[in-house]
Amino acid sequence: MNEKRDILVTSALPYANGPIHIGHLVEYIQTDIWARFQKMRGHNCWYVCADDAHGTPIMLRARQEGIAPEALIARVADEHQADFAAFRIGFDNYHSTHSPENRHYATLIYERNRDAGHIARRTITQAYDPVENIFLPDRFIKGECPKCGAPDQYGDNCEACGASYSPSELKNPRSAISGAVPEPRESEHYFFRLADFEAMLKDWTRGGGLQREVANKLDEWFAAGLQEWDISRDAPYFGFEIPGHPGKFFYVWLDAPIGYMASFQHLCDRTEGLDFERFWAADATAEVYHFIGKDIIYFHALFWPAMLHGAGFRTPSAVFAHGFLTVDGQKMSKSRGTFIKARTYLDHLDPEYLRYYFAAKLGPGVDDIDLSLEDFTARVNADLVGKVVNIASRCAGFIAKRFDGRLAETLPAPELFAAVVAAGESIAGAYERRELSRAVREIMALADRANQYIDEQAPWVVAKQPGREAELHGTCTQGLNLFRVLIGYLRPILPGTAMAAEAFLRIPPLTWNDLAEPLLGHEIAPFKPLMTRVDPERVAAMVEASKEDLAATGDAASAPTGPNPHLARDPIAEVVDFDTFARLDLRVARITAAELVPKADKLLRLTLDLGGESRNVFAGIRAAYAPEDLVGRLTVMAANLAPRKMRFGVSEGMVLAAGPGGGDIFLLAPDAGAEPGMRVK
Ligand code: MSP
Ligand code: ZN
Repeated sequence: MNEKRDILVTSALPYANGPIHIGHLVEYIQTDIWARFQKMRGHNCWYVCADDAHGTPIMLRARQEGIAPEALIARVADEHQADFAAFRIGFDNYHSTHSPENRHYATLIYERNRDAGHIARRTITQAYDPVENIFLPDRFIKGECPKCGAPDQYGDNCEACGASYSPSELKNPRSAISGAVPEPRESEHYFFRLADFEAMLKDWTRGGGLQREVANKLDEWFAAGLQEWDISRDAPYFGFEIPGHPGKFFYVWLDAPIGYMASFQHLCDRTEGLDFERFWAADATAEVYHFIGKDIIYFHALFWPAMLHGAGFRTPSAVFAHGFLTVDGQKMSKSRGTFIKARTYLDHLDPEYLRYYFAAKLGPGVDDIDLSLEDFTARVNADLVGKVVNIASRCAGFIAKRFDGRLAETLPAPELFAAVVAAGESIAGAYERRELSRAVREIMALADRANQYIDEQAPWVVAKQPGREAELHGTCTQGLNLFRVLIGYLRPILPGTAMAAEAFLRIPPLTWNDLAEPLLGHEIAPFKPLMTRVDPERVAAMVEASKEDLAATGDAASAPTGPNPHLARDPIAEVVDFDTFARLDLRVARITAAELVPKADKLLRLTLDLGGESRNVFAGIRAAYAPEDLVGRLTVMAANLAPRKMRFGVSEGMVLAAGPGGGDIFLLAPDAGAEPGMRVK
């Protein structure tokens, strides 16, 4: 085999504020397969990752749960690592960006870039929450859509009418944290001068380490001009304070990719003979590869190599971007039950199935990949159970029963064995180029040949004919040897199945080099089924459970895992005195009319009778109630709220309802006997 390479492989660092889902797993499974393949080939390959633990969303999430950010990220780190281990993602090290190693390298990289003149400072104006005393990232500003007037729209696009706009265009903007009106406020920020690196980045782009689609994207970005990048955030922030600038913090995306180095340093500190410099020094000969999703190319293909170069480190050998996962042809959806968490999958199905299915679908490009649940079941059952495992189950029984578990001394069809071994280089090439679907196709074609061989030899017929023992022994030995090579080829994809097969064959972990040598005169263990069929009912149950998650918590992705999700998401508000409460006039009201509002698919227009007086109210309850089900019902309304002008008309109060929103809204209703106009106290 060719010489030993030193290879460092990374996957993007998952955010420490939510669970791993099957979309993430596209990336971790793809990377893990590639790293396992390199190890099987005998290279010095190291696969590291970490939690991405900094930033405003994590800080606010911790605050909502009433815990310190350190406690939140520690809990999520445990959850992430348990999920990854269950999917057999074989990290050599899993660390955190909130670590001393990361602080060290973030500081070093910043200071070297600063000393080389690549950091600018400038005062900018941003939205500020005067109650929480915090600058507001776009996604934390909400207001009415400037186009259709729908209330409660976040950031830069409207869920009701689909319009996109800049957050500063929102009408009646409010802080999503405190509800306060954001104020423009000035602050000094630090910027990374990306344009200083244009020539270097263009060279790097042409260095051959990028996929065609990615290189094209970069050309577009070069043509548009490289903008300065804002790398600082003001306190309060959960991150690293910028040395020498109290109250200023590194933006999460500055220290996130540095987390790759930090995790590797942490590994070096624990591994005899592993040298950080050999991988990261400017003249390092080791290879460094980053697997990422297509949404974070800008950070990895522009900022990251530029920062590294500016600080005197090497640049990555390549960045490998992949597409996004769709389920049954659509974006993962919480209401359809296709937003499937790693944990929910594991509660129902074997991780090997998903590893195989993703491998069967993944190519070297950035195309999205689709998980069709029906195809998933059919494909895993046909290929893994029906073809691969079948080879072993057809041969193993005879070896056990008729030959004391011992394989024959010679192969009856050495040319077939040699052909299957010879196909290994083409399969290895496909793995190397991340053409996983091609590798799978080639392996399955070999499995077909092995089954065909067994069909032709018909050992179940031969077994019944006295005097043909040697023939039977040979056929089954041949079959199990073909099985062994195929399991070797599949090992990067199916590490769990491979381990079970190795135990059955009583062999040490297979390496690529071992495969050419057949296993002869060797005693194997009794056969146990290596994999069971995918049960479509389990798949359906998994989808159902993913829906239940939604019903229980409203919003699966942002659902805290604390004891009561509602309290955790929305803690009890500040105490008010009785007078403040008494100023609010709540009344029983009868809904006398309810209708849809054109162009506002969240709203219903309600006419409320307060016992003679009638009020017009726009309520965001359309996802939960059909208009005809509301007419005639009693409810409770805030009757003395200042009227609010909306695009469709004036809203003269609010009806009271509980729940997180969307389809989960529960209108309040008084007990029988209450009458319109009664005050609620
Ligand atoms: N924290 C950043 C990455 C920092 S890397 C220095 C981040 N985290 S993430 O949790 O949002 O995503 C982690 C990885 O999973 C990213 O590469 C992202 O593209 C990938 N995926 C997240 N959802 C995905 C799908 N639905 N489909 C495929 N990959 C997806 O981004
Ligand atoms: Zn709108």
